[in-house]
Amino acid sequence: MKRRGLVKQLLLFCLVGFVVTYVYNSVLFQVNELSVEVTTKLTTKRIFNFVPSTRKLPQKKFKINCRKIIEKDKGEIDRATALMRVSPPFSLKTEDYINATEDCVHFRKSFRYDSYPVTNEEREFPIAFSIITYKDVDQTERLLRAIYRPQNLYCIHADASSPDSLHKALEGIADCFGNVFIVSKKEDIIYNHMSRLKADLNCMSDILAMPQKWKYFINLPHQQFPLKTNLELVKILKTYNGANDIEGIITHGRMMPSRFEFRHKYINGSWKKIGKRNNKLPLNASIVKGSAYGVFSREFVQYIITDKRAKDVLKFMEDVKSPDEYYWATLNHNEVLKAPGRYSGNPEKKPWLAVYASWGGRDKCHGKFVRGVCIFGVGDLNELVSKKELFANKFYPDFQYLALDCLEEYLYNKTLSHLPFETFYYKQLPFIRKQ
Ligand SMILES: *[C@@H]1O[C@H](CO)[C@@H](O)[C@H](O)[C@H]1NC(C)=O
Ligand SMILES: *[C@@H]1O[C@H](CO)[C@@H](O)[C@H](O)[C@H]1NC(C)=O
Ligand SMILES: *[C@@H]1O[C@H](CO)[C@@H](O)[C@H](O)[C@H]1NC(C)=O
Ligand SMILES: *[C@@H]1O[C@H](CO)[C@@H](O)[C@H](O)[C@H]1NC(C)=O
Repeated sequence: MKRRGLVKQLLLFCLVGFVVTYVYNSVLFQVNELSVEVTTKLTTKRIFNFVPSTRKLPQKKFKINCRKIIEKDKGEIDRATALMRVSPPFSLKTEDYINATEDCVHFRKSFRYDSYPVTNEEREFPIAFSIITYKDVDQTERLLRAIYRPQNLYCIHADASSPDSLHKALEGIADCFGNVFIVSKKEDIIYNHMSRLKADLNCMSDILAMPQKWKYFINLPHQQFPLKTNLELVKILKTYNGANDIEGIITHGRMMPSRFEFRHKYINGSWKKIGKRNNKLPLNASIVKGSAYGVFSREFVQYIITDKRAKDVLKFMEDVKSPDEYYWATLNHNEVLKAPGRYSGNPEKKPWLAVYASWGGRDKCHGKFVRGVCIFGVGDLNELVSKKELFANKFYPDFQYLALDCLEEYLYNKTLSHLPFETFYYKQLPFIRKQ
């Protein structure tokens, strides 16, 4: 008798608990979408320091604990995921940036550009970056801010066919800094096309013409985000000691051979194969596949822009499909081409650390796969922050946006911390140049 009463009580308790949770969740999550704002420690500072007068601020705020999310606390990850489902991200619009950058002093202060401390070690080791974008000023600007330091150089390439307002906003941002500039020649970028490679080449030659004595060049798409602070990048690049960090694939099956065994032409909006290739790479070099993104030494960039061998290889690339995935890799992995910082061993036996991307069928993804690549979610952060790679690809501003928010906060905290950075792993890499 007594036991049955206990069971009844327990059942009732569960029922009440369920109802209370349900009602609580409905109240919490089914509020008017536009009145909810989810913030992390950093977004609070970033966005609410700059309030566009033209837009109403959200009325209700939920604070998310990024530390817990990065530590993979299930409760906080579930809470964040539920909140993101009902609350769209609060981001600044193109027009907000156009307005905000009219007053550069206010802009730099509100967006806390000068709040990242810079050491002498960093000042003596400037890095040049290109950022390739075609939309989304907010995400582009966040990437710029995460890697911005006064001694570095930044070349922004926005697609020639992007809306005028995007160009105007980016020009506004660039005009607020002496070391951020818009590329001198904009390409109309077509997917898989030579124009994508040209965009980086245009930035490279602009950056070479600058008086700053930068040591390394890193090219980035706007959906990438750093995993290392600028000081950590400097320490890693010093370990590289002039070597490039470029991916190299030579296994025939992995090289997508039809892209270069046939000559391709982009006609009227689509790709056509216009015949079997009969020309060879200069000096009998062999074609190598890799990523469009990499880490390039200054001497290598100089070689790319000025050396005849590099220019001859570029000519060969003109009818290759996705030449950006063959050009750097071919230059970097052929002894005969004599590129500075190149790698002579088997390229597939060395790690490639420029970018971490998670691929479908191979890696885990707590976000979602789009065209085979993981769009990171909050559940991925725990693994991401422990990666040896320098950058992570990719993030969407309107999907699991707290992933980017929390990574931003983590990186900011890491910049302020005075803990030593351990370079042991990087010092034993096979591709670095020995000191
Ligand atoms: C820009 O923002 C300021 C302050 O928020 C506002 O007073 C001004 O009217 C805005 N200008 C434009 C062109 O929107
Ligand atoms: C960053 O630092 C702040 C202030 O110390 C702290 O409250 C926050 O939890 C930290 N965030 C992360 C992701 O470490
Ligand atoms: C491209 O398409 C247009 C209209 O469909 C056609 O008139 C033109 O001949 C095409 N050009 C080529 C090079 O195929
Ligand atoms: C390239 O290779 C072919 C055959 O393997 C050889 O006959 C030719 O002399 C080589 N050319 C150069 C420039 O090394």
